[in-house]
Amino acid sequence: MDGPSGTGKSSVSRLLASRLGASYLDTGAMYRAATVWVLSQGVDSTDVDAVTAAAASLPLEIGTDPTAERVEVAGEDVTGPIRGAEVTAAVSAVSAVPAVREKLVAMQRDIAMRSDRVVVEGRDIGTVVLPDADLKIYLTASAETRAARRNDQNVADGRGDDYAGVLADVQRRDLADSTRALSPLRPADDAVTVDTSDLTKDGVIDALLRLVHDLQGARS
Ligand code: DC
Repeated sequence: MDGPSGTGKSSVSRLLASRLGASYLDTGAMYRAATVWVLSQGVDSTDVDAVTAAAASLPLEIGTDPTAERVEVAGEDVTGPIRGAEVTAAVSAVSAVPAVREKLVAMQRDIAMRSDRVVVEGRDIGTVVLPDADLKIYLTASAETRAARRNDQNVADGRGDDYAGVLADVQRRDLADSTRALSPLRPADDAVTVDTSDLTKDGVIDALLRLVHDLQGARS
């Protein structure tokens, strides 16, 4: 399951995994945990050599239960800190470092191989991590829809109402994510694109369950 943020990808992926009795892997959480580790080592997230060195000893553990998030760095629960502002600000730089991606992609493939059925969520799963996945979904929504959702969340969280500013930020990140040299965000050639702009969460889940069932039907 790939796509930009603001499409409801995480909650949909988690729910889909639960409904299918599958495991769930949040690869964004892994890049965030790597960032926690880098920052805890006193490393500047823009110093590629230092991040590369820190990544070599990354003590990361991640759970795959869709109903219980578990992310540990050096034995410590970091499920809260990985969503903090400091990590969110630094994760793009850390996730652009080749040694970080190599290490995490190897872990992701290993976890997927050991799972019977798994929903893996990220940006480069269909294109790079698991190019032979049975089903590749690219979840998307218009920049305006994603900005409105994020702005609504900001308002609900007491972080102010600034739709124009949020929209500009979404457009800037889309451009950066889709044009970066290493693993740019794009649908795999054989991905099914699902646009969530005009769908409720249940509508998205229904559409995805249909795709899974069609696939199973075609195989039996
Ligand atoms: O989905 P998220 O916001 O938790 O992702 C955190 C960061 O990690 C974001 O900057 C994109 C990056 N990421 C990535 O480069 N590759 C992935 N497979 C997943 C996330």
